[in-house]
Formats: sequence, C-alpha cells, structure tokens
Amino acid sequence: MTYSEKIAQTTDFIKNKVDFTPEFGIILGTGLGALVNDIQAEFELEYEHLPNFPVSTVESHKGKLIFGELAGRKVVAMQGRFHYYEGYDMKEVTFPVRVLKQLGIQKLFVSNAAGGVNLGFKIADLMIIEDHIDLTKENPLTGANLDEFGGRFPDMSEPYERKMIDEALEIAKEHEIPCHEGVYVGVSGPNLETRAEYRFIGRIGGDAVGMSTIPEVIVARHMDLPVFAISAITDLCDPDNLEKAEISKILEAAFKAEKGMTTIIKALIAKN
Ligand code: HPA
Repeated sequence: MTYSEKIAQTTDFIKNKVDFTPEFGIILGTGLGALVNDIQAEFELEYEHLPNFPVSTVESHKGKLIFGELAGRKVVAMQGRFHYYEGYDMKEVTFPVRVLKQLGIQKLFVSNAAGGVNLGFKIADLMIIEDHIDLTKENPLTGANLDEFGGRFPDMSEPYERKMIDEALEIAKEHEIPCHEGVYVGVSGPNLETRAEYRFIGRIGGDAVGMSTIPEVIVARHMDLPVFAISAITDLCDPDNLEKAEISKILEAAFKAEKGMTTIIKALIAKN
C-alpha cells in the first residue's frame, strides 16, 4: 500500500467509527497534558486500534485521539505524539497530521517543551513560536511529492499564522502570563545539546531548542494548514553557565507552565 493509500485507509476507518468533523487539531505535547480535562470528549480512539498508526513507545499511557468540544468548538486532540528519536522516520512522525487534515481540521495547534537559549527567558515562561530553524536530520516531505496534499516546494514565509500569534500575545497579556515570542530551533535528539551547540543555536537566531514540532509543522504547511505553536521553557541553556540537565526539573517546569499554556490555547480556540 502506498503512503497516500494508508492515509486514506486510516481516515476512512476513523470516519466509519466516529461521526464527528473536527474544526481544529491539537497535538497535546508537553505543557498541554491537562487540556484533556477541559475537552468534553465524545469519542476516543486508541492509536493501537487504528490501522497504519504508529504506536507510542515512551509514553507510559496509551496514545489516543480524543474527539470532543473545547471552548465551544469541535476539536480532535492527539494525546501522545511521535518523536524521531524514538526510532520513527519522519513520515511516521507526521502521519497523524495528514490524517487529521483529511478528517477536516482547518487549523493545527501544537505544544512542546523547549530549552531556553534566549537568556532573557526564565524557567516555566512560555514562548509562542514565531518562526523556526530546522536542524533535524530528515525532512518529512522527502521523496515523491503527495500532489493531492500540496505542492513540491511549500512556501514557508509564514509557517506560524501571524494573526494567531498576535491574538495569543494579547491573551497572555490580559491574563498576566509570562510569554515571549521567538524562534524555535528543532533538533533530532535524544541527547541534549553541548555548550558549543547552544552557542551556535543562539548565534544563528534561535531563542529555544527542542526535539519535536518542526516535522509536524512542515507537513501542516505542505497542506496549507494554518499553525499555532507554543513552547514551555523548561530549562535554561546558557553555554557559559550550563548546569547539568535534570529530567525531573524539566518536567517540574513543564508542569508549572501548564496552566498558562492551557489558558492561552483555550482562549485562542474560542476566538478562531
Ligand atoms: N534541548 C535542551 N533543553 C531542552 C530540550 C532540548 O531539546 N527540550 C526541553 N528542554
């Protein structure tokens, strides 16, 4: 079966199970875990029951698609995403985004955890992604172009919709949520960066660095899907004062950032 046929098969399978056309897709990365509690779920489908879907390896819980209402809008949320460092190729990492588009989503919302390279950032601040630099090792669009989804050379002049960035900044201000906008640098991981790499990332214009999001955004933009993405700054990456990364501290910071991130996403979804 070709990749396109797999996307169609998975989409048909879901449409047969679930009578629901979502307006928005949400990838519940780090920082948005609690958003599931705000979704009035109508249907849930576990990834392991979906044909062709990759299955999460790192999550202790099972990955699933949640269809329901959030802030009065119809959404489909991915609880559990796929990372290149887990061993999936970029076509597998981005497969769900293709399917969500076929299910009808008109915008994509994404969250992640990222290291703060901009030294003006503090732990547990938020950063709305305004632009990105792709340093990952594989591009999800490599190979024959999927003409039915988009063109060979997708435009990247506005990878993250400016209108939604401005709306989100306004929402953050209203709620006094510490929030910046900046450039996200995507790497493959799974190791964190060296001091020399952090210095490099800062010098090329990065404000934050992380191991997800860019492949999903590239595929969304290939399909002309407007994107909003936001990072929880979980650790500071100052090459001259670098502390040893501790995963427990990173998770603690992500947890701290969760409330603000949830508030922004909910208000933004209500507005769009
Ligand atoms: N690099 C550094 N710090 C981080 C990352 C990363 O990829 N993700 C979360 N904190």
